[in-house]
Amino acid sequence: MFVNPHVFFFLKDGEIIAWDYKNHQQFALEKLYFERLVDWSKEAVLEPAPLDKELAEGALLCAQQPPNKEWGWDVLAQIYHIGTRDIATNLGELDPQQWTKEYLEYCQGISQEAPEFHTKREGEVIELPSPNLGLLKNQNFLDVVKARKTCRSFTGAPVPLEYLSTLLYVSLGPLHDRWQDLEDNNLMVLGVRKASPSGGGIHPEEAYIIAFNVEGLEPGVYHYDAQQHYLTLIKKGEFEKQVIELLLGQFFAKGLAFGIFLTSRFDKIWWKYPHSRAYRVALLDIGHASQTTLLTATALGLQTWLTGAFYDSKVEEFLEIKTSTESSIFFIGAGYGDNQSIPPEILKILQEES
Ligand SMILES: Cc1cc2nc3c(=O)[nH]c(=O)nc-3n(C[C@H](O)[C@H](O)[C@H](O)COP(=O)(O)O)c2cc1C
Repeated sequence: MFVNPHVFFFLKDGEIIAWDYKNHQQFALEKLYFERLVDWSKEAVLEPAPLDKELAEGALLCAQQPPNKEWGWDVLAQIYHIGTRDIATNLGELDPQQWTKEYLEYCQGISQEAPEFHTKREGEVIELPSPNLGLLKNQNFLDVVKARKTCRSFTGAPVPLEYLSTLLYVSLGPLHDRWQDLEDNNLMVLGVRKASPSGGGIHPEEAYIIAFNVEGLEPGVYHYDAQQHYLTLIKKGEFEKQVIELLLGQFFAKGLAFGIFLTSRFDKIWWKYPHSRAYRVALLDIGHASQTTLLTATALGLQTWLTGAFYDSKVEEFLEIKTSTESSIFFIGAGYGDNQSIPPEILKILQEES
């Protein structure tokens, strides 16, 4: 017999847990059963034993050799990918009435336990100038989409605070005054409606601004309050060198006017969607928020750069995030640049070599 290849084991409260992540089943295994699986995994031909029948009933053992499907990443990614596919649910078989009833009952059931949606950081409040929507009104959509390109050569020229304010308000802030259709129907409104879509309307993203050279804003780290459109000072300082180190030495962040670390408040998402599949939503949400930010910055005449490569723990320390329920996911940089995707330092080496 063959051991189900889609099982991992871990210890919990003194028990061996076998997690069949493909079939979404978990078992607490007595040692004897675990040892039997270990023996089968040696590809030995064993004398049949009564344990085998039970293990086969739980699909931990199978009679046929499971097909070996191509997978280029390590087993951790496989566990997550397969383990969050095809989650058992009967929702697809329900008619719209039943479907709605189940959904509303579910929402009602969790509504009392909602976490605090408004993230407030301690610190000095810095008012932002009113967003200047006029800066964006005459932009041609296709021109903006075409102009959005990753730049890796920034000049260090300053960006006015009005531009940063407009960017934050339009792409990550309370662009829509009200969540009208929810409010008109007496439905619970937890956050703010924004320019980007968000799984379940949750908007788990938080934005931390690193001001390098913003006219009217002291260099430093700030949290953006997306509900009330103001900044909270986390710390003042010139952090360009430190940020480049945090971004794994990507020196082309030099000369940015400002950067935005996007984090995700996981606690908001797992409150509504407790299955680990919702981790995908966390990443997708940040991707949407990021693209809106990039396009808005482009429409404001700025050049942009982006990266998901950084020391997560150190970034969270840098942003003074003290909870494990909020995690750094992405970084966006903006400023004035020369529109080159290949940094001059790299171009120089390439030219020397050719
Ligand atoms: C999820 C994601 C991660 C990225 N990570 C990096 C990165 O670590 N460093 C970098 O210089 N560019 C990064 N980029 C930028 C891409 O290299 C860039 O978007 C791509 O080459 C296409 O070029 P374009 O943005 O000019 O269209 C990333 C982009 C995305 C969407």
